[in-house]
Amino acid sequence: MSNRPSVVYSNVWEDPELNRGSLLVKPGDHVLSITSGGCNSLCLLLENPERVVSIDLNPAQLAMLEFKRAAIIELDHEDFLTALGTPFHGQPLPPAATRVALYRKIRRHLPAYAQEFWDAHQPLIEQGIFLCGKVEAFFALYRRILNWLYDATSLEQFFRQPDLAAQKAYYKAFRKKRWRFLNSLLLNRFVLSLVKGAHSFAQVEDPDLSQNLNRKIDRAMTTFYNPDNYFVALMLLGGHFSRRAMSPYLLAENFPILKQNIGRLEIFLGTVGDCLKKWGPRSFDKFNLSNIFEWMDHEVFNGVIREVLALSRPGARMCWRYTLARPRQLDAENTRRLVAEPDLAARLFAQDRSFIYESFHVYHLAS
Ligand SMILES: C[S@@+](CC[C@H](N)C(=O)[O-])C[C@H]1O[C@@H](n2cnc3c(N)ncnc32)[C@H](O)[C@@H]1O
Repeated sequence: MSNRPSVVYSNVWEDPELNRGSLLVKPGDHVLSITSGGCNSLCLLLENPERVVSIDLNPAQLAMLEFKRAAIIELDHEDFLTALGTPFHGQPLPPAATRVALYRKIRRHLPAYAQEFWDAHQPLIEQGIFLCGKVEAFFALYRRILNWLYDATSLEQFFRQPDLAAQKAYYKAFRKKRWRFLNSLLLNRFVLSLVKGAHSFAQVEDPDLSQNLNRKIDRAMTTFYNPDNYFVALMLLGGHFSRRAMSPYLLAENFPILKQNIGRLEIFLGTVGDCLKKWGPRSFDKFNLSNIFEWMDHEVFNGVIREVLALSRPGARMCWRYTLARPRQLDAENTRRLVAEPDLAARLFAQDRSFIYESFHVYHLAS
């Protein structure tokens, strides 16, 4: 098996509204953000901070964000969407040659490692990099089987209901037996470990992941109106349902701000601890920590939190999530230095359109 880095997430499957509503980024802020597919680091750039440092341990994830950054620098909005292979339900992608030509145009903005990565992965550009990660490939398989178990029209009806009440009724009446069966086959520890790596489940205690995800799917289908929920559209249809329902960094109206602020994005290979070595204490105001604590034990979690605290300026705010694991507990020293905001966290979590998460956490530095 090859140890060469590969893209696990070409998209961030985390609702950027939760980061926006919890971090409250303001002009002058220095933001540290976990990269994954890069989407949420770009969304934070829309809040006009002084700087966003986007970090990841996996160079392929950084190459992904470098591609998006280069396309933002070089292209207009339409070509930006085209270069990524942004999928829209019911519309074929433009020809592969168009994406390759756009890659040639943006390539000069990429650092050497990202040029090497994308030169070596041209077939991904030909297919469209938007859904090129392992997680997205897993969703594609899931979608293919679901379309085989049901007919495409009845699945599309989840997006054709006039309002949420009708969608809820349609979902309640939908024959879900085969869907549940598919979940038990694919949404289990063995298969998901192959997709995301076994480390992702080291701290997960729930013995029945498919039941857990069944509950979350039920909630999404009965709480959020699908035509507005791009997470469900990408998972079930493989494309956006409309040009309005996309991650904020993809929206036409936000593109001028993104272009204006793209020079404030720094892409960095390393951990929170590496940031502390590079930028020194008290260098960040806001932290989007994704769900990096998912697979850490109590000690490692508290060690990373100490690094976050060392990096924090007065008033610093931070958020993180868990997909399936139970939250790690802050030790006594970290508890003294952080103030939890459970009401805000709960309010935002109730609006989480990405729906697969177990919990959301918001803190600020104690004064
Ligand atoms: C935490 S994972 C989860 C992905 C996310 N839930 C999503 O939907 O996109 C996101 C990224 O964090 C990176 N990562 C994990 N632990 C990290 C750490 N300690 N420091 C920096 N990056 C980390 C992984 O390489 C991965 O690309």
